[in-house]
Amino acid sequence: MASIVSRLRTSDAAFIRNREAYEPLRARVAAAREAAIAGGGAKARATHAARGKLTARERINHLLDPGTPFLEIGQLAGHELYDDVVASGGIVTGVGMVRGRPCMIMANDATVKGGSYYPITIKKQVRAQAVARENALPSIYLVDSGGAFLPMQEDIFPDEHQFGRIFRNIAEMSAAGLPQIAAVMGSCTAGGAYIPAMCDETVIVRENGTIFLGGPQLVQAATGEVVDAQSLGGADVHTRQSGVADHYARDDIHALALVREIVARPRKRATLVPPSTPAEPLYDPAELTGIISANPKEPIPAIEILARLLDASEFVPYRERFGPTLLCGTGAIGGYPVGVLINDGVLYSESAQKAANFIELCSQTGVPLVFLHNIAGFMVGREYETGGIAKHGAKMVNAVSTSRVPKFSLLIGGSYGAGNFAMCGRAFGPRLMGMWPNARTSVMGGEQAAFVLAMVRQQQLERQGKAMTADEAEAFKQPIRQHYENHSDAIYSASRLWVDAVVDPLDTRGWLTLGLAMAAAAPQEETRFGVFRM
Ligand code: COA
Repeated sequence: MASIVSRLRTSDAAFIRNREAYEPLRARVAAAREAAIAGGGAKARATHAARGKLTARERINHLLDPGTPFLEIGQLAGHELYDDVVASGGIVTGVGMVRGRPCMIMANDATVKGGSYYPITIKKQVRAQAVARENALPSIYLVDSGGAFLPMQEDIFPDEHQFGRIFRNIAEMSAAGLPQIAAVMGSCTAGGAYIPAMCDETVIVRENGTIFLGGPQLVQAATGEVVDAQSLGGADVHTRQSGVADHYARDDIHALALVREIVARPRKRATLVPPSTPAEPLYDPAELTGIISANPKEPIPAIEILARLLDASEFVPYRERFGPTLLCGTGAIGGYPVGVLINDGVLYSESAQKAANFIELCSQTGVPLVFLHNIAGFMVGREYETGGIAKHGAKMVNAVSTSRVPKFSLLIGGSYGAGNFAMCGRAFGPRLMGMWPNARTSVMGGEQAAFVLAMVRQQQLERQGKAMTADEAEAFKQPIRQHYENHSDAIYSASRLWVDAVVDPLDTRGWLTLGLAMAAAAPQEETRFGVFRM
């Protein structure tokens, strides 16, 4: 297999400038991560510790096989989203190894408003369950939560993908043979009680764990009965009398050890060993930040990116000379074979047709697809419309939608409009979706949106016999540009779970390798494509 030959010169002024410009982006992401990891405030953490409880992240550390990585999903969820600080969206979720098996772990953070569920908490847990289901992972619920965040109940309770969906997912995954395991390490009230009650197997911690449909306050209000939380639904009641839980744990550490034992039961499972020996790229991934231009309007040389992401920098291009604004080809990451699609300019009919064919080929051979977005969109204009660019783009979108191989999407630059769809945006179900700190996404660029809206306004005014001066037009456009600027960056996107993670360029190979390993353990469905418009 041929290795890529990089033409990069690290002594170039542009390389040095780009690299320096990248550091403030990194610093912003690092600050957001720190806030996410801190959980609730110092007071809440102290109260939590005084009860003999580990934090959500400590619990995960104890649950994982020592020295193995944790593929965190949605770490920045909730960042600056509400008036309250909802660190990590109030729940820590991700994939990690438990007794040699990759598992989805969902741990409520009770230091964040008692672990109650904000809308973003639900969105994050439902997303985590979707990842578990798609990759055939067991789910482990470390429960410590006050249930629905009551002031926002209408954004939590009634709708299709809200609270009830978590319980339905548990039932459906259990029915599909995917283990559902709960450890109740704190509160678990009202609807939340259905998490342990519906799981296949449940552990409960003495003194701290409680499960009940209505807490002591509600019971008193409803029936006048006065009862304390432990007598109502503590570990003793549920493991000795009610049968709502199966295993009695002395403390958090004991509960986590019991969960590890449950996961270790013999079950059918796929192998996790990568098919080929992983190899580092020939070119240093640390050079990536000098390659991404500080000016987002400048292109990012696709081949230089691949040279620093693929094993041994080896890449076999597919139809290299046809539709060259989209590079397609095969290589490996962390020993796992991948088909890569990376933008190197706008999408034309040829590039879209090539991509659709390439996706067909990878689907025939079961090779996972990696989409690296840096895309302004499809080419516009009469020539291209006449050439049927809409139908060629539709073929690519069709192939992306229906191919059943695992797909991974990473925004390395801009990702706009239909270009985002064709490159497997969020709506197209990539197994994981990430953004580099410099990346942006919106329906179109801010400048273009400002221009379009100003034109519409101008036409309205013309119909009334009026016009905008150049200054008025500029005053009209500026807030639109600013709005797009503020609402399209990586942290903004991650806080709303449009993406699973902000991924540092240097960590990209590791992140993709964990994702590929996660997907490799699941059986692959057969692809059946829809009708392609020729
Ligand atoms: N909705 C909104 N806010 C909630 C909440 C909920 N369901 N559960 C807890 N909170 C808030 C508290 O108001 C408090 O906010 P503050 O820090 O701004 O004062 C914070 O979360 C911590 O709660 P606190 O009661 O001080 O913590 P705790 O660890 O002693 O107790 C619970 C935790 C969960 C046992 C307790 O808060 C509780 O019983 N909550 C209500 C549970 C319930 O009935 N839920 C029904 C959901 S359908």
